[in-house]
Amino acid sequence: MKTSIKFSIAALSAAFFLGSCGNNNGESSGSNGALRSSNAEKVYVAPGEYDEFYAFMSGGYSGNLTVYGLPSGRMFKEIPVFSQFPTTGYGYSEETKPMLNTSFGMVPWDDAHHPDISQTDGVLDGRWVFINGNNTPRIARISLKTFETEEIIEVPNSAGNHSSSFITENTEYVVAGTRFSVPVPQADLPIDQYKGNFKGALSFISVDKESGRMDIKFQILMPGFNYDLSHPGRGESHGWFFFTTYNTEEANSLLEVNASQNDKDFIAAINWKKIEEYVNNGGGTKMPANYAHNVYDEHTHTATSTMKKEVLTVNPAEIPGAIYFLPTPKSPHGCDVDPSGEYIIGNGKLSADLTVHSFTKMLDAIENKKFDGEAYGIPILNYEDVLAGSVKSGGLGPLHTEFDDQGNAYTTFFISSEVVKWKIGTWEVIDRKPTFYSVGHLMIPGGNSRKPFGKYVVAMNKITKDRYLPTGPELEHSAQLYDITGEKMELIYDFPTHGEPHYAAAIPADLIRDKSQKIYRLDENKHPYAVMSPDQAKVTRNGNEVHIYMSMIRSHFTPDNIEGIKVGDKVYFHITNHEQDFDVPHGFAMIGANNSELLIMPGQTKTLTWEPKQVGVWPFYCTDFCSALHQEMQGYIRVSPKNSTLDLTWTLDGE
Ligand code: CUA
Repeated sequence: MKTSIKFSIAALSAAFFLGSCGNNNGESSGSNGALRSSNAEKVYVAPGEYDEFYAFMSGGYSGNLTVYGLPSGRMFKEIPVFSQFPTTGYGYSEETKPMLNTSFGMVPWDDAHHPDISQTDGVLDGRWVFINGNNTPRIARISLKTFETEEIIEVPNSAGNHSSSFITENTEYVVAGTRFSVPVPQADLPIDQYKGNFKGALSFISVDKESGRMDIKFQILMPGFNYDLSHPGRGESHGWFFFTTYNTEEANSLLEVNASQNDKDFIAAINWKKIEEYVNNGGGTKMPANYAHNVYDEHTHTATSTMKKEVLTVNPAEIPGAIYFLPTPKSPHGCDVDPSGEYIIGNGKLSADLTVHSFTKMLDAIENKKFDGEAYGIPILNYEDVLAGSVKSGGLGPLHTEFDDQGNAYTTFFISSEVVKWKIGTWEVIDRKPTFYSVGHLMIPGGNSRKPFGKYVVAMNKITKDRYLPTGPELEHSAQLYDITGEKMELIYDFPTHGEPHYAAAIPADLIRDKSQKIYRLDENKHPYAVMSPDQAKVTRNGNEVHIYMSMIRSHFTPDNIEGIKVGDKVYFHITNHEQDFDVPHGFAMIGANNSELLIMPGQTKTLTWEPKQVGVWPFYCTDFCSALHQEMQGYIRVSPKNSTLDLTWTLDGE
């Protein structure tokens, strides 16, 4: 299976140069129709009206998840997930700092990748969205009721958590697959001992049906390849999960050449139901581990972080018949399964053709032992026996495929900068449209489920260049919206995205809009430092620790003036927002605090820590323009020298 890679690398480089040299893709943006008034109408959402879809776009290196409306492309919210976020105080407040705890301590940033919405019976149910942190391996669960990150679990034995966070069709599992193989358990090894000694952990994280609570059920310790992307089986193939691999050469240096030697790498087909049964019957090996599990409690508005000390691992050799390799040409990247669950598409990024495997043929090949060798004891199925067909795309650098509800597939091509529409079953190319420029992921609402909503496709482009007014050396990435209701795709809109979107997930707005939380009920607030009415406000001292129990309501803090604080104190402002109206948060900022402001939702309690360093009288204020008297929403702290004997005093309402 050896071939010369030199030609293809040279060809790809040349193609990239051409493809990234401007609007030379056959159509210019102007003639593409984006300016036509009929297209303008398609994306126009009149003032006060709502969009048809919520789109959740991964924020890539922002570490967060952004929420957009489709078709308008209006950004509604940035949900902080893996990164500190001063806009709300996430990761700065005492209540949310534990969300970012890991076995490496607090890691206040990550590289967010692939959001996926929870499903029931293979259809989007709109309860949660999951997303992976790629850098310090983590999976987060975000509530689609509160739009807050509720839980983050670290993934041990992993590095570069990339083939994640895809879910099975009843949200039984969210999957986290390592991109980089590493020593398992970690060890001080020479790097050139990679081959045969490093392992790739594929983690199956169970999701509680009611609470959504995550727990690592088992980790499969696979051969030391790179695990790139994955998708669940559905319908007939429900119970299986498919992962693309590259670097089956197990090279440890110059991967751009050395990991491209094999003509074919693999898609790993994993029968997770079989492995689940095996571990439910006591199979697998408990291995010592150390990983953080961070959970946000809606009633105390507080996160706790627990270190877990053990993980259940499964060696593929222990459970024959659970894992097979499907040979797939040219370092496959995307691994996508069509809505019926029959076809598994591997996008060989160094290839022009798309490889489509058949699930039925795969089962038949397994049954009849049509093997072409094995790798580390895992049978390799014979390529021709599992192949359903290949799409002669004519494009270069295929990455990802999504599906509509009419039996069509849409594949992005990074190098030739286009989206290609093709027919499932006949493999014929129906249409192709340029993207501006160098598209990575694409997304159709519900495209990773049994029931796509095939009205739009969003292309997420890596290079923006001349699409927007220049903003210095870097521009926000560009998303492009195509109408796919007709035979031919039609580019109807460009809009900027935040960070670097790696995939997105979208859902019809009417599936979640009416469940969206409006306030937190004050009478359900179980925060230990909450004050239920302003007359409960107080200040207490314990050594150099000062706790301020504060309330806020338009347009007043109680207490508003506090004396008796000293240099060297550690002051905790525990602030409860007494509003019970939708969309009336208040903010809190203290001069010289070495963190951010807080934004506190109606009925919520949040805590800001401040260590006063300078004697004087220092103000605090509300940061959110909450009423006509917002500028009056303020107070003072008198800070005395360290050795002062001044007692704590404070002012309640009307005093
Ligand atoms: Cu409260 Cu501004």
